[in-house]
Formats: sequence, structure tokens, C-alpha cells
Amino acid sequence: MTEVIIVRNEDEAGEIYARCVAGLIKAKPDCVLGLATGSSPLAGYRHLARLVKDEGIDVSGVRGFALDEYAGLDPNHPESYRSVITRTVVEPLGLDPAKVHVPNGNLDTIRDAGHEYDAAIEAAGGVDVQILGIGTDGHIGFNEPGSSLASGTRIKTLTEQTRIDNARFFDGDIDQVPTHCITQGIGTIMKARHLILMAFGDGKAEAVAETVEGGVSSLCPASVLQLHPHATVIVDEAAASRLRNKDYYRWAYAHKPAWQGI
Ligand code: F6R
Repeated sequence: MTEVIIVRNEDEAGEIYARCVAGLIKAKPDCVLGLATGSSPLAGYRHLARLVKDEGIDVSGVRGFALDEYAGLDPNHPESYRSVITRTVVEPLGLDPAKVHVPNGNLDTIRDAGHEYDAAIEAAGGVDVQILGIGTDGHIGFNEPGSSLASGTRIKTLTEQTRIDNARFFDGDIDQVPTHCITQGIGTIMKARHLILMAFGDGKAEAVAETVEGGVSSLCPASVLQLHPHATVIVDEAAASRLRNKDYYRWAYAHKPAWQGI
């Protein structure tokens, strides 16, 4: 079963993620982190950076793979996912930039970039913990509704809804939001050993309910988490509001023995 943890706010969710990843880095100093952009993971990255600093955790061996990148956007653009990952993860945590990879959205090479990216993840031994946000339409990475649940990293066309949602990063102007992207496929994401999906706010409530309690369907790409052996969904009250079994999730987490781990 997908574990659902209902928290008070993004900070509490961020602390849970940070504790989990800090423990992983201590146990496996060359671990591979799956990284997401967007607002949902930010508190997690912030708390992890604090733990790394406070506890003097050595991150020199940590490797990372981002989920996605816009197609044709200059990597130096402040909203390219290369820039966002550098700003929100690499620099605050003090990771070695050479060990953190983002799919290459350069249009000249993009047709081969997906296979190469999947091969690089495989050569690194696979992702240990993948953090995920979720779109209001249920997308993970940029796998929009209808994406193959077995897909590898590839070029995708963004939906109008995703471009509207992301216009806030481009001066509110949808015309500046690229129309295409390169994204880890759902099959790629599913190979990570642990998935942690975070969602906050009532705008995500329907997508979260579909993901956890709906049927598994490409119409809600995140619902594939139901097929993953180790998936954790961390949501605030608003994002949890449409879950039918929320009393059970709350009870299970409140009574969770420490030995069970996350
Ligand atoms: C980001 C990504 C997207 C976002 C999703 C939610 O790398 O792949 O799937 O996670 O669009 O975005 P936020 O967190 O901004 O609501």
C-alpha cells in the first residue's frame, strides 16, 4: 500500500524528507537522489541543507538526477530546471555540481538525450530516493495524462494546464512557457527504490485522491505509485481533503513504530 502521511504544513513534510535522506547519505555516502523542481520539494531541500550543515554530513559523494527540463530553453535561463536545481539543491547542500545531472533540453541533441539519460541513471546504480511533486492533472515529472506507464525518458508536449500552472515562473506570461520538455518516463521513475510524493493545498486534493484511491490509469499518471513497492505520499490537510481513508492513514502514522522506518 502507498503510505500516506498527513502533516500540518510543508515544513513538517520537509523535515520528514530531510531526515530520511540525511539517514540515507550517512548509510550510503555515494547514494543517488532523484530531484524534482517546482514548489513542493522546496521545504525538503531547505531542511536537508540545514541537517547537512548542523550535523556536518559529508555530501561529497552524493549523486543526483533531476526529473525533467524544458526543451529549447537556455540552461542559463533562471527558470531552466538546470538553474533551478543548482539554486535550490546543489548550492544549498554543497553538492558536487559534476555529480548532479539534468536532462539535456538542447534541441540539436534532444532526440538521443532520453536514452542517454536512462543509461546514465542505470550506470549510476539507479535512484535511491526520488522526490516527486504532482500536477493538478496528476502528472509526475512532465508525464501528462495519457503517458505510457512504462515510458522511458523522452520528449513530451506540455498540456495547456501545465503551462498555465507554470506561467508563474515566467512573469505570469504563458507565452514564455516552453511548449515541450524532456522528462524521465514513468517507467524510469518507477525504477527508483523509494518514491516520496509531496502535495500541498486544495488545488492538489483531487489529483491526490485519484493517485492514492482511484484506479491505476494513465489518465492520472501518479496513480502508478499504487504499483510501487515503496511509495510514500506526504500531504497537508487541504491536499488530503478528498481522501476517503484519511482517518486510517492518520491512525497508522500516529501508531507507527520507529522500527518500521519511512
Ligand atoms: C518538477 C516536476 C513537476 C512538478 C509538478 C508540481 O520537476 O516534474 O511534476 O513536480 O508540476 O509542481 P509544484 O510542486 O510547483 O506544484
